[in-house]
Amino acid sequence: MPSTDDAPELGFSSLAVRAGQVRTFEGEHAEPIFATSSYVFASAGEAAARFSGATPGNIYSRFTNPTVRVFQERLAALEGGASGIATASGMAAILATCMALLKSGDHIVSANSIFGSTISLFTHYLSKFGIATSYVQLSDPAAWAAAIRPETRLFYVETPSNPLMELADIQALADVAHAHGVLLVVDNCFCTPALQQPLKLGADLIIHSATKYLDGQGRCVGGAVVGDQQRVGVDIYGFLRTAGPTMSPFNAWVFLKGLETLQLRMRAHSAAALQLAQWLEAQPAIERVYYPGLPSHPQHELAQRQQSGFGGIVSFELRGGREAAWMLIDHTRLISITANLGDAKTTITHPATTTHGRLTPAERERADIGEGLVRISVGLEDVADVQADLERGLRRRV
Ligand SMILES: Cc1ncc(COP(=O)(O)O)c(C=O)c1O
Repeated sequence: MPSTDDAPELGFSSLAVRAGQVRTFEGEHAEPIFATSSYVFASAGEAAARFSGATPGNIYSRFTNPTVRVFQERLAALEGGASGIATASGMAAILATCMALLKSGDHIVSANSIFGSTISLFTHYLSKFGIATSYVQLSDPAAWAAAIRPETRLFYVETPSNPLMELADIQALADVAHAHGVLLVVDNCFCTPALQQPLKLGADLIIHSATKYLDGQGRCVGGAVVGDQQRVGVDIYGFLRTAGPTMSPFNAWVFLKGLETLQLRMRAHSAAALQLAQWLEAQPAIERVYYPGLPSHPQHELAQRQQSGFGGIVSFELRGGREAAWMLIDHTRLISITANLGDAKTTITHPATTTHGRLTPAERERADIGEGLVRISVGLEDVADVQADLERGLRRRV
């Protein structure tokens, strides 16, 4: 089949099922899994030419793999990026980006409301190599501008953020970053390119935990970086093939198949999450619901402008702190108590003691993670069943 390079006008849904595929001589319809660690050469001369880079081609699956390549090209096409690389996990994507683009003495400005392991990576590990991080309020572009130092290289954001569903104005942040020669990195895990395409709004690099919605059924751990050819295709790829946190071909195949249904799933997750958020907002035991699709969300207007849907994650603060939150969680029967998100199965998490449990109390406070906070990743079950499952715990409290 012709590569989609020959048909650059394809729409999102077509790219999601077609981009990147190159059929082999076997004429297979679905993309094959190339389960091979190395590749053979026709001669010693060909081996030498590949190793020297004089001729392109596969050498070893830590460097390239045809199944991984299809996933990379398909995701890059959906994000609108020139280059994509796949990694062993979302955290490996963040690490590879930092290791490839930063050096000792550099500085990151990061949102304070980001995934707990990302905060740990910046604060506890990158700091050992002389890379400092300042944390600012995601939604306040003036705070980002004020935090810039001569040695600042990266702005790092998740939008919407995990778990508080706070938004960054991507275009406004890109303007601030670029005015100071700083790169804007956006973790697009919660929206995926089906709902938001940050590169088109001025971001420089996209991070994914493919583990979440790109898979969509909670099967594999993986990640990706998408952006321009030099930074992603040369610099970050160079770190990855040397250091080794690459994606396995089997996982790439699972994610590739996940991309084919991504838009349909994201629409269904978004519709169900909005319905659930509206219901949660009416419950007296709940102090506050965090969902950008609700008119009560302080950035509802920005969400409408920047995203084509509001996503599947709903968080809420229960009156009664940790005791109330655990009581609700422990009375569920259908919803899975697990820290993952972006699954067809609805999941429930207490961020303060799980995803953000390794942060110090001060770091948690800075990230606004309260003891009564509960995060739900709304799956693809009937919303009425999810509601009934939560109602059991909420009724117990009265
Ligand atoms: C927003 C976000 N970014 C990155 C990660 C890290 O991804 P992974 O678990 O695939 O390493 C996660 C994981 O939960 C996440 O929620």
